[in-house]
Amino acid sequence: MQTLLVGLNERSYPIHIGAGILDQAATLLHNPHQHSALPKQVFVLTNATVAAHYLQPLQRALAAHQIEVFEVPDGEHAKSMEWFEQALERLCSLGFNRDCAVVALGGGVVGDLAGFIAASYQRGVDFYQIPTTLLAQVDSSVGGKTAINLQGGKNLVGAFYQPQTVLIDTQCLTTLANRELSCGLAEVVKYGIIADADFFSWLEQNQAALLARDTTALTYAIRRSCEIKAEIVAEDEREQGRRALLNLGHTFGHAIETAFHQRNDHHSWHHGEAVAVGMVIAARLMQLKGELPQQAVERIEQLLQAFKLPTRAPKLDLAQWQQLMQRDKKVKAGQIRFILPTAIGQAEVRSESDWSLIAQAIHASEVES
Ligand SMILES: NC(=O)c1ccc[n+]([C@@H]2O[C@H](COP(=O)([O-])OP(=O)(O)OC[C@H]3O[C@@H](n4cnc5c(N)ncnc54)[C@H](O)[C@@H]3O)[C@@H](O)[C@H]2O)c1
Ligand SMILES: [Zn+2]
Repeated sequence: MQTLLVGLNERSYPIHIGAGILDQAATLLHNPHQHSALPKQVFVLTNATVAAHYLQPLQRALAAHQIEVFEVPDGEHAKSMEWFEQALERLCSLGFNRDCAVVALGGGVVGDLAGFIAASYQRGVDFYQIPTTLLAQVDSSVGGKTAINLQGGKNLVGAFYQPQTVLIDTQCLTTLANRELSCGLAEVVKYGIIADADFFSWLEQNQAALLARDTTALTYAIRRSCEIKAEIVAEDEREQGRRALLNLGHTFGHAIETAFHQRNDHHSWHHGEAVAVGMVIAARLMQLKGELPQQAVERIEQLLQAFKLPTRAPKLDLAQWQQLMQRDKKVKAGQIRFILPTAIGQAEVRSESDWSLIAQAIHASEVES
């Protein structure tokens, strides 16, 4: 097992990574600040898909605790006011008090919802993350952003609320769908582009092992991703500066996701897929500005393709791109701020207002008709 620390002073916490460590949940899930064990009363939030594989092992590991399981539907719609409220009402009717703990067992949806519940119930109770998708293991479970959605948009209500411990059991990835594995790999590639050229090269060399779900390769990819995210979050917990780099590809990606969401088409584009295309557009934009060599753009595209991710944008008209991107949370005083790679391993936050250049970058990345 490997352990990293997210350094946030009095809110610092460990991330444990290992194969089969779910069995050790009783000892690994503890409160590092009060040096106390996992509370007696434990509220486990999960969904039926994840529960089918991992709930019993967790219950077995926590046999000495009073476990209450709360299942939400599988899918993004669980991150709603409705499920938030139902979970809080259940906590209350169970008589759980300030000393209880909320444990998220699942992907990013379960983690984001459980985190906001933990942040809100009685003004905050202990929170533990057991992420079970690659995306949740390398991204959403680390860093303390929690959220639910409104009709008007994703992640519009939430809190910064750090967990007490993150337990990453790489064996959970054995049951994950190929498409979900690829979506997680998109975020892994993102870390290489924004922060670590050597890691990017390592990913190029180990693509086959990662796709074959080789435990050693996955463990290293998860560890390096968590290290990069932890380091950025420790520097800028509330996204006043450098943390924005984690949004590489996301401004373009969210536009694609929202466009298809508005058409009520929830299946054609997953988050990681839209982000993959977004990273290609961002790289092309820099190539057009003469700030990134073509070879770097090609390496990014090839790596994403190797991970079975799309690299071509759907055809949307420019006005629609513009309108969708203006709604981005990163827009400040009407200016869209893009995360743009200046090299493989390095990126910057910039306001870019040359729409003809942006249009060119998008156009160059579109599917050929
Ligand atoms: N808080 C953050 O910093 C942050 C960062 C990135 C993404 N997110 C959020 O994360 C969510 C996406 O997370 P996700 O991609 O994990 O989606 P998800 O939670 O919907 O999981 C994807 C699918 O995999 C299933 N699943 C989960 N674990 C499994 C396993 N081990 N074996 C088999 N199936 C399994 C789930 O039931 C679901 O059907 C979005 O809501 C996004 O907004 C949050
Ligand atoms: Zn993302």
